[in-house]
Amino acid sequence: MSTSNLRKRLPAEITIVEVGPRDGLQNQSQEVPSELKIEFVNALSLAGLKVIEVTSFVDPKWVPQLADAELVMKQIDRADGVRYPVLVPNEKGLDRAIEAGAQEISIFASATETFSQKNLNRSRDEAIEMFRPVAKRAKEESLRVRGYLSMVLGDPWEGEVDVVHVADASERLMDLGCDELSLGDTIGVGTGGKVQELIGTIIDRGFAAEVLAVHFHDTYGQGLANVLAALEMGVTIVDSSAGGLGGCPFAKSATGNLATEDLVWMCDGLGIATGVDVQAVASASTSLCRKANIPVPGRVARALENG
Ligand code: HMG
Ligand code: MG
Repeated sequence: MSTSNLRKRLPAEITIVEVGPRDGLQNQSQEVPSELKIEFVNALSLAGLKVIEVTSFVDPKWVPQLADAELVMKQIDRADGVRYPVLVPNEKGLDRAIEAGAQEISIFASATETFSQKNLNRSRDEAIEMFRPVAKRAKEESLRVRGYLSMVLGDPWEGEVDVVHVADASERLMDLGCDELSLGDTIGVGTGGKVQELIGTIIDRGFAAEVLAVHFHDTYGQGLANVLAALEMGVTIVDSSAGGLGGCPFAKSATGNLATEDLVWMCDGLGIATGVDVQAVASASTSLCRKANIPVPGRVARALENG
């Protein structure tokens, strides 16, 4: 198959949702000072990213790495035309997020029962009931709401996850009033065929490809292949993390997210517009990692640094 045939099946442009400051830093054992986080977000804004997930307003006892959420959210420089969503699990988190000036929130459910318990201390049903008033109030206050669904392609405790169950869980989450649904392969076990089967099943339930995002962790090196598979299905919103930082403290087998630099490098090569300057993202992530003493997992970031 020639590259031009591949190109014809792909979108002209995509939106990257940069999750590094949140998903990338929530799992670090090294302490990352708040000033470095702020510098990181500001550098990512300047690199052309249009959506940057800044932090989480979760219980700091659960995620001490992001206990400085208020400070970071209030002190970043908000660039024109850039959205700065934050993660919110409950009404207490929503209050904190609004007080800190958030205009967009993400609620986060699990496709599987075990991860719901481990991540939220709630069954899937209880989690939906926890999110219901959050989404309702957020919409009343004109906040944009993203719904994340985790473990959509496999679960470390439950193994294979049935696409029908994932589609059911997607519907329940979207019924809360979400504007967008991010499908999370939290532990990075998925491959292209399953990605397309899942997205096809969700589209068959009546969801437009335009409201779907994909969120890949690169544990098994399938991140970019899975993005291509999703783009072929009409998806145009892709989550990634600068430097490939990432993981989830409540799913130990979740390693780094798909790296933003790897994604932009691929899109640049394929002529898919992202508006993002790959070198500037790499500088942002390598600078953060050097100062915080974190190894850079992302391949393109490392190659650009060494090259
Ligand atoms: P819980 O212990 O059941 O909470 O945790 P609770 O409601 O019983 O409250 C217990 C205490 O926590 C109370 O304080 C609350 O005030 C406090 P106390 O009275 O004991 O002093 N509390 C809070 N404090 C500050 N902010 C809050 C908050 N909520 C309660 N928002 C809870 C339930 C949901 C809070 C907890 O499980 C939690 O915070 N979980 C978050 C876990 C998390 O952040 N995981 C990582 C993000 S998800 C992810 O990475 C996946 C994703 O990337 C997609 C993918 O890859 O698949 C999105
Ligand atoms: Mg994640």
